[in-house]
Amino acid sequence: MPDTTSLQDDPIQPDLSRFTRRVFSGIQPTGHLHLGNYLGAMKRFVDMQNAGGFETVYCMVDLHAITVWQQPEELRRATRELAAGFIASGIDPARSILFNQSQVPEHAQLAWIFNCVARMGWMKRMTQFKDKAGKHAEQASLGLFAYPALMAADILAYHATHVPVGEDQKQHLELTRDIAAKFNHDYGVDFFPLTEPVIEGAATRVMSLRDGAKKMSKSDPSDMTRINLTDDADAIAQKIRKARTDPEPLPGTPEGLEERAEARNLVNIYAALADVSVADVIAEHGGKPFSEFKPALADLAVAHLSPISGEMSRLMQDPAEIDRLLAGGAARARELAAPILRRTYEIVGMVGADRMVGADKPEWV
Ligand code: TRP
Repeated sequence: MPDTTSLQDDPIQPDLSRFTRRVFSGIQPTGHLHLGNYLGAMKRFVDMQNAGGFETVYCMVDLHAITVWQQPEELRRATRELAAGFIASGIDPARSILFNQSQVPEHAQLAWIFNCVARMGWMKRMTQFKDKAGKHAEQASLGLFAYPALMAADILAYHATHVPVGEDQKQHLELTRDIAAKFNHDYGVDFFPLTEPVIEGAATRVMSLRDGAKKMSKSDPSDMTRINLTDDADAIAQKIRKARTDPEPLPGTPEGLEERAEARNLVNIYAALADVSVADVIAEHGGKPFSEFKPALADLAVAHLSPISGEMSRLMQDPAEIDRLLAGGAARARELAAPILRRTYEIVGMVGADRMVGADKPEWV
């Protein structure tokens, strides 16, 4: 009998080491890319690609994007901009698999199976749904409620072993593990891995330039709160110059940043862009007033980001080339996902599973 409680505390842990080491992560193609997306996600994805030791699969989750209303033309633009951003940041479509979710139908197909595994009680506890739907839960789409089951499908369609995400996605990763464990338990198999989250540290969480307590966000009404990846050098320098700070100079030790959210944010951004530790930044700039530190940060940001924005705008001029790269990524993604979906259907008892795409490839781990 399938039980209906969370298996989080007592998971049947299949040995992760029998799975190919595979990273999967996704970003929603909505709005414009900013420094928070870059340092918090894209740069980390590039680092994981370049570190080796993992297959890396990166997805633009357009099916997730439409859980809230998207203007079709804007969704197309945002998907291509995100693809351009990934490539300009260093994702190599030959080394990583880069694609948009809707082009690999296995995501939606596996999501349906997981809709039938996940329990209403689990879904109702998801804080992101509560935050996003707010007081208007009755008006929210069914897709927004089911969002985390699709996310589990994204990950488990590849038997991904590691998923880099922000702190805000931790609960969705726990749900993914619950779904994997319950599926394995209910069908008496050891098929889906219990994926490891790779949660970013505070250092890569980029805060608003106007309020150190708020995340940098595409939806903040003020453009001065964020650095967009498409901003030119003047805009970047101006936003950093006008960033909110306190009147004190930078402290002499990293601990001195503790109660100073805005100062800490600028130091974190510097450290992440320069690929050094906060302690290194303080060793070099501790004691300086912001009138000296801000220009140094602006120079660093411009030097780091202008090649990326230049490459992005070059790529955006050739959408057909972006679409071609994404089609190639989707074909490679399907080669991994199709045999896993086929095997899932077979486990569940779907007649015809033996004739599905991927039936010739039983190597699904
Ligand atoms: N929910 C994630 C976010 O909003 C995006 C996402 C969708 C994702 N599917 C995923 C992240 C799978 C990691 C793995 O940030």
